[in-house]
Order: sequence, then structure tokens, then C-alpha cells
Amino acid sequence: MNFSLSSKAIATTKADCLVVGVPEKGDWPESTTHADEALDGLIKKLQTAGDITGKNGSTGVFPLDGRPWSRLMVVGTGKNDDRTAANFRKAVTAVLGALKDGPSKSVLIAMADTQVKGDQAVTSEEALLNVIGRILEEQLYTFNQFKSDKPASRKLNKVTVAASGGGKALKEAFNLGLATGRGMNFTRDLGNTPPNICHPIWLADQAKQLAKEYDSIKTEVLDEKQMEKMGMNTILAVGKGSTQPPRLIVMEYRGGKTKDKPYVLVGKGITFDTGGISLKPGEGMDEMKYDMGGSAGVFGTMKVLAETKPKINVVAVVAAAENMPDGGASRPGDIVTTLSGQTVEILNTDAEGRLVLCDALTYVKKFDPEVVIDMATLTGACIIALGNQATGLLSNNDELANELLAAGERTGDRAWRLPLWEEYQSQLDSNFADMANIGGRPAGTITAACFLSRFAKEYRWAHLDIAGTAWLSGKAKGATGRPVPLLVDYLMSHAGK
Ligand code: BES
Ligand code: MN
Ligand code: ZN
Repeated sequence: MNFSLSSKAIATTKADCLVVGVPEKGDWPESTTHADEALDGLIKKLQTAGDITGKNGSTGVFPLDGRPWSRLMVVGTGKNDDRTAANFRKAVTAVLGALKDGPSKSVLIAMADTQVKGDQAVTSEEALLNVIGRILEEQLYTFNQFKSDKPASRKLNKVTVAASGGGKALKEAFNLGLATGRGMNFTRDLGNTPPNICHPIWLADQAKQLAKEYDSIKTEVLDEKQMEKMGMNTILAVGKGSTQPPRLIVMEYRGGKTKDKPYVLVGKGITFDTGGISLKPGEGMDEMKYDMGGSAGVFGTMKVLAETKPKINVVAVVAAAENMPDGGASRPGDIVTTLSGQTVEILNTDAEGRLVLCDALTYVKKFDPEVVIDMATLTGACIIALGNQATGLLSNNDELANELLAAGERTGDRAWRLPLWEEYQSQLDSNFADMANIGGRPAGTITAACFLSRFAKEYRWAHLDIAGTAWLSGKAKGATGRPVPLLVDYLMSHAGK
């Protein structure tokens, strides 16, 4: 697929299909006016005749004579007052949905001059080009590696996006959008890969592959022996029930100054979660292949950094293990000493995510982090609280939390903060160890974060519970690529100029 930006007049830019937006009422964007002039008022006629309603996200395709376009796609962009960044994303998504398996080989999308409501950060031409770039990659994603009958290959192979000029800022915004989409698609590939292939060593190999592909990424992998020497006993306790040994994967991207403290990302990489001896019910258990979604988000974000080279230092740590109920598995009642020295009574082996994360959170102290952000498909309770819309956000620092919330709003990859009050901590009391690994049914997402907070005291830290957002179930089953957009936006806002 060839994606490019063009500042040539659209009336003289050839393509099989031209795409323009039409609002329900009111003034048209310049591109639409120019297209209408080039087509002798066709768009006006279609609107007057009722063939085009302008309803946000509705699309219509009309044949032309091929000079310079063979067809015209008109997408509704709704009422002026409703044209939020979210509705603009919906309209662009609808365009790609209608185009991707259609007859056009080349398309020219002229939508970056749409009048969107709201803050400059989401309405400027740069912002719209970023969105279009990201949605192009996201919508054209496929995962059919394991199907014998591959769907017929797509005709569409060239997408040109119209921009007002060829300036650096516009190009960078579009390219960042494309890179973000590709990062998300990498995250989706890792998540969708079946768990008999995607195990801890395979994940570690993906990190080594990234380091091979990009000079800017360095990868180091700790095996079970190295972890044992260090005292990472909780990751080991989770991995013990599986014949697939655990791994601690460290990737470093250093685009900033040597003295700049790194932003540290930590991902839960449970490549399959059976629950262990506290075995999960069978129904829908296949979806626990997505329990490495946090680590997949970390990988996707690192790929975006490697492709766009921002001036920032980022260290990524993935705690990878498979949670299985083999003879060597941890039992409910086992007590283990974490890397931090604190002891944990494992009352439920299905609360394994916090066990692998706690050692990783202790490990990352050595990087003297600017901030630490962990992401994990940590609790079913988060799906009950927030559904598939928002990622759960818990943090020991208001400024960091607010910045992440803002990045989520800007990208539509939203998060919602839950409290981390001291009063919840006592739910983790254990009669026999420093803490239990479960806090009972009430506030399950919060007590999971309370557990993590005990290992994150020495730095500014935020936790993203992506149990409801990393993948979708049902007919649209598949990884979403979240929270890559949120993280990329946040990190870019901290990169040097
Ligand atoms: N990976 C699961 C959380 C999960 C479950 C995410 C379903 C998405 C969908 C996690 O390891 C887990 O099993 N958590 C338990 C914790 C409980 C035992 C305290 C849960 O949420 O039930
Ligand atoms: Mn579990
Ligand atoms: Zn899990």
C-alpha cells in the first residue's frame, strides 16, 4: 500500500476515486467546493436531489467519466455543532470501510480541511492529517495468516491525502499518524497470534527482532536463571506451572539526551492465563491469549518511537509468563518473597498479573525513571466498571494522571481515573505474609492497583487497566491496538523539539 500527502490542486490530481466531505447544512470545506466546480456542480445537484444527506458517516459513491476521477465518494460530516473530533474519526472510518474492498485502485482523500469543533490540538490540519493517517493503517488491517482460503487481494493500493501545503509540520503529523496505526497493528498482530505460538520466548524473539530492524532499539532478555539469581520470585512463581519458561524482556529507545531520565513502560505479558490451580471456567477461555495485551501495547509503542525518532528516552520492560496448572504450579496458600523483599501470600493463582508486574516494577528502579507507566489486562472488574470504552487509570501522581487522561481524550483512546485511596489497602491484609494477592470482590480494579502501588513508591507511577479495551469479543473478536494512541500522544508531548 502506498500512502502519500499531496498539496497539488485536487482538480488536477488523478485518482480512481475522489473522496470529499459534505456537511448536513452550511458552508462546505474548500476541497468540496473545488471538487464541485471541477464537476460542474454535480455535488450540489446530488445534495438538492437528496442523494446526499450529509449525515455524519454516511457514504455515497457516484460514477464519473474518469477526467480526472472515475468515481466520487461523498461522506457526510454532519451538523456543524456536532462535528467533534470523535465524529470526524467516525466519518473517516466510514470512508475506509466503504473503500477498502471496493473497485478503486487509487483514491484521493480531501478531508483534512473539514471544520472540526474544539481545541486546536484536535482540529488543526495537522491533527486531522494525523487522524487520517492512523485510521488508514487501522482500517486496512487484516489478520488471516492462519486461514487456508485467503480473501481475494485488495484492489486498493494507493491512497493520496490532500493537504494545504507541503510543509514539514503537515508531513510529520501525517507520518506520525501512519506510524501510530502501524504500531497499533503490530500490537494487534501480537495479540491475535495464537497462544501455542505466542509464548514468553516467542515474545522475547519479537523484541530481538525489533532491535535487529531498528538501530535505535536495544533489547536484553533475562531468562529464568538470571531472574532466580536476582530474586524475582513472583514472576518465577507464576511461570512454574508451565513448560514454557518466563522471560523478562527489556527494550531501550534512547532518542533524548544522555542525562534525560527515561520514561519507563511496563507491560503484563501473560501469554495465556488459565488461572493456574485457581482454574478459570472453560467458556471463552481462548480470549485469555490476549492476556499479553499490556506487553503488546508496549511493543507497538516502541515500534512507533523507532519509526518516528522523537527526542526522548524510553525504556520498556515486559514481564512474560504463561499461567498454567501443571504439577509445578503455585498453590493457593503459597508464600513467595518478591524482588522488593516484601512477602506475598498467593490466595488465588488467577491473580497472576500483579505477581509478574510487581517484580518488574521493582526492577525498573535501576533506570532512575522520570515516570513509570504500566499496562495490563489486569482485572475482569475493570470491564464491569468501564466496559469496552475506557481504560482504567490509577496513579500516585495527579499531574501524570491528568496528562494521560488528556492524551486519551485527544486521541479518542480514552481512560478514566479510579481512586487509589489508602482506605482500600487493608483489603490486601494477610494473616501470614506482608500482603495477600487478592482483595475480595469489592473494588477489584482498585485493590489490584493497590497491590502494585506497594512496589511503585519511589517514582511517579500510573497503571492502565486495559482488560476492557485491549480486545473486543463476539463477532468483531480481535485485538484493538489500544492503548498505543494514548501512549504515543503522551510520549510525544514530552519529546524535545
Ligand atoms: N487476566 C485476568 C483479568 C481478565 C479477565 C481480563 C477477563 C479480561 C477478561 C486476570 O489475570 C485475572 O484473572 N484476574 C482476576 C483477579 C481475581 C482473581 C482477584 C479477575 O479479574 O477475576
Ligand atoms: Mn488471571
Ligand atoms: Zn491474567
